[in-house]
Amino acid sequence: MAESLLVDPSLPRSEAYRQLLPQLRALVETESDPIANAANLMAALRQALGFFWVGLYYVRHGELVLGPFQGPVACTRIPFTRGVCGAAYSSRETLVVPDVEQFPGHIACSSDSRSEIVVPVWQGDKIVAVLDVDSDRLHDFTPEVDQPALEQVAALIGQYAIPAD
Ligand code: SME
Repeated sequence: MAESLLVDPSLPRSEAYRQLLPQLRALVETESDPIANAANLMAALRQALGFFWVGLYYVRHGELVLGPFQGPVACTRIPFTRGVCGAAYSSRETLVVPDVEQFPGHIACSSDSRSEIVVPVWQGDKIVAVLDVDSDRLHDFTPEVDQPALEQVAALIGQYAIPAD
């Protein structure tokens, strides 16, 4: 297992993702415990990219339930009908929200959150979790850079970081 991350903090985020992704894979592919892997992936994302909040909501008995995360304390349960997380789950698509105040039904776990991206995590044809990343800056995530990189992270999560129901 890699015990430290090597990502240059001065790099543009696209390059930081490029450096980080193989290290994330190395972090999880030799560990069999999904909670350990989820916890380390969230820590690595925050450490390398400085996100304000990054975490998982697992699909549990008809709602989204908070899993491992890094950042301020957050709401624990989100119905599929609420928030950016519920909308990403229900639409089965990654949602990039440049300004959370403009998103109807956004759930403000922290009043400092300004923009957000939520990526479904798939196992086969089922969504088993969503990866939620919040920024304290407006327009911080793009469909061009963050979406494809975080979708690759979500694929790792689906493979290595989903505990049994
Ligand atoms: N903003 C999310 C709720 C989760 S927190 O951001 C950690 C939403 O609207 O679903």
